[in-house]
Amino acid sequence: MEDIMLEVKRVKQAADYLRPRLPRADIAVVLGSGLAELANMLEDRIVVDYKDIPNFPQPTVMGHGGQLICGKVDGKTIYAFSGRFHYYEGHDPWTVVRHVRVMAELGCSTLILTNASGGVNTGFDPGDLMLITDHINLMGFNPLRGGNYEPWGTRFPDMSEGYDREYRELALKVAAEQGITLRQGVYCGFAGPSFETPAEIRMARFLGADAVGMSTVPETLAARHLGLRVLGISCVTNMAAGILEQKLTHEEVFATGKLAEKRFSALLAEIIRRI
Ligand code: HPA
Repeated sequence: MEDIMLEVKRVKQAADYLRPRLPRADIAVVLGSGLAELANMLEDRIVVDYKDIPNFPQPTVMGHGGQLICGKVDGKTIYAFSGRFHYYEGHDPWTVVRHVRVMAELGCSTLILTNASGGVNTGFDPGDLMLITDHINLMGFNPLRGGNYEPWGTRFPDMSEGYDREYRELALKVAAEQGITLRQGVYCGFAGPSFETPAEIRMARFLGADAVGMSTVPETLAARHLGLRVLGISCVTNMAAGILEQKLTHEEVFATGKLAEKRFSALLAEIIRRI
């Protein structure tokens, strides 16, 4: 396994490239498949292509933009990562969380993670938004494996409150004010890229999952290691395998994400205003 100091160097190189180009921000948001609308709402935008950031790969998935957009929501500057690095794209675990470490290196203390997921809870409907209360890691890896760089965090980080309680309360309050239904539940991460089988979905439900997806879990682990506060909101773009008599496609995931995008961005924008 590689020396963690090589990864520390990659993260610092990326941060050193970005620091003189961007104003400081406290909040970073990762925008999932088909959920990039928030980035378009930002004022005084500065856009940096991932291809220009040292050690940032190019996203390979449709619906994942590959840009870091810095801009303001009502005068509050944020970094919006449009496009993330999935394990199923072939990236090693450190690459999957590199943007999280870079935003922390740039001084952010809050990470908002969004994603598309499959609904496991049969009380959910496609298009529902779900506040992530906790997660189950079935991805088969942990991005913190390997040498530990103490300035980032401790060897054995606590995960008893992965998703910040105060932020969850705020999200529920804002959703209620906006008249938006915000479900709550446990997100279970699978490695992908194949969607799960019906048997895997029954297993996930038995284990306590309400939604399944292929991202977010590693980012939350890296963020908590760094001591960042995390808010996670998922767009349930489809019912998970075996629940409905229909096949799953990325096109459906993307299209449902698009339908929820306006509602999702309005919720995120108001949460950001009040964080
Ligand atoms: N499974 C895994 N990831 C997903 C799904 C799903 O059903 N929908 C959107 N992302």
